[in-house]
Amino acid sequence: MKILVINGPNLNMLGRREPGIYGAESYEDLLAFIRKTAEEEGLEVECFQSNHEGDLVDRIQAAWGVFDGIVINPGAYTHTSIALLDAVKAVNIPTVEVHISDVSKREDFRQVSYIRQACVKTYMGMGFEGYRQAMLFLKNRQGPGA
Ligand code: DQA
Repeated sequence: MKILVINGPNLNMLGRREPGIYGAESYEDLLAFIRKTAEEEGLEVECFQSNHEGDLVDRIQAAWGVFDGIVINPGAYTHTSIALLDAVKAVNIPTVEVHISDVSKREDFRQVSYIRQACVKTYMGMGFEGYRQAMLFLKNRQGPGA
């Protein structure tokens, strides 16, 4: 099973960025965590990060016919981007939304998630573990031997 993990704007700043909210570990640490999870679970994984909305749309579109599942942390585009929502709907690949912080307990403007309505599941407030849970959810949803 092939999973694409997409991270949106400012997630490349993990470790330096508001560590009280997002933790002390870097984006490279997150990549290592995701790759370790993939290895342990027998999953193929590819990771992509961009600060640019259109590049994220392009990557989702290019996943069509290639990936069996998408894990996405759209960063701030969660709360603004209909384009990302439409892209996920267009490719029709099972997609899980992940947030490192618990956005439900943060500012009002973070209470809206456009992409959520196209996602099969959302994990938030679990730190890096949310990415692992998302990968496991996609794996278990697909069933054994896939
Ligand atoms: C985030 C939460 C968003 O509100 C924020 O804009 C981010 C990161 C998270 O992982 O907790 O960039 O998606």
